[in-house]
Amino acid sequence: MKISGKTFIVTGGTGGLASDAARMLLAEGASVGLFDVVPTETGDAFAQSLSGEGKAIYVKVDITDSAAVKVAVRLVSDKLHNLAGCVHCAGISLKRPLSNVVAESIGNFEKMLKVNTVGTFIVNAQVADEINRPLNFPDGSDKPGPFWTSDEERGVIVNLASAASRPYARTLAYGPTKAAVVGITEAMADFLGPSGIRVASISPSIIMSPLNAGLGGFFTDDLLKHAIFPRAPIGSEQISSTIKWIIETGAINATNIFVDGGWKMVVTKPGIEGGKDPRESWPGVE
Ligand SMILES: NC(=O)c1ccc[n+]([C@@H]2O[C@H](COP(=O)([O-])OP(=O)(O)OC[C@H]3O[C@@H](n4cnc5c(N)ncnc54)[C@H](O)[C@@H]3O)[C@@H](O)[C@H]2O)c1
Repeated sequence: MKISGKTFIVTGGTGGLASDAARMLLAEGASVGLFDVVPTETGDAFAQSLSGEGKAIYVKVDITDSAAVKVAVRLVSDKLHNLAGCVHCAGISLKRPLSNVVAESIGNFEKMLKVNTVGTFIVNAQVADEINRPLNFPDGSDKPGPFWTSDEERGVIVNLASAASRPYARTLAYGPTKAAVVGITEAMADFLGPSGIRVASISPSIIMSPLNAGLGGFFTDDLLKHAIFPRAPIGSEQISSTIKWIIETGAINATNIFVDGGWKMVVTKPGIEGGKDPRESWPGVE
């Protein structure tokens, strides 16, 4: 899909990866609707700093609130026109000192499941439904019309999963919420393919963004030791170039792309090769 002239929603829009993705999309000639939970004045000022020509607008919306997301998506579509997809970056990674009582992780698992997983389903669904609205409701009523198929490319959704989406990655609660993002990506791609909408996800290793503030050294140490190459955190511009490639390369669909230097997050074992115990990293990643 050609990026120029299209509109994309960028969730988590003021965050580390999203702001870089928004800059890339604007530089390629798109308009962007930024969704985040930061105060409206902060978000508006940020949108203004990205584009003084009104090609970036901010909407304060919690992605776990389906009705609010629907309204926000419609607003962006009406104001900026040519809605062609989204780059879904909103997500949270909760940290706390871990103990050997697994049940202590249930609370944070529920919170991350809501934002990272349910939020992904909501954003994907509301964006796709808005793109498809004219064809889903051909007579203008509230009643969906019959199923239809398009051979035209009509949209692209890019979800941010994580290197921790591997089921064996050492993130007890965050990891499964991201594995589900990969699952949602594949299921959405399958369901939306007939309407000409592609869906893919990206799984980065570690990017030094606010998400990782206060992260203990375990994961960064493991990355330095065990990524194949590069053995270092990656830059958000590497994620933006992957997003651009996914949007522009029409055959990329229903897949999860690791941008992780070949790091598997499982190599260091406690007590072996001087490996630290991830449960003792402070603060632990849930
Ligand atoms: N930074 C990394 O190392 C890394 C690695 C792998 C995957 N990821 C994933 O990439 C995505 C972006 O990460 P980032 O590093 O830019 O994080 P970030 O913390 O810089 O940005 C996330 C943004 O999401 C927003 N947000 C949180 N909850 C929200 C909600 N309910 N509704 C709307 N907005 C909400 C936050 O306000 C924030 O601006 C996340 O999904 C993250 O899990 C990040």
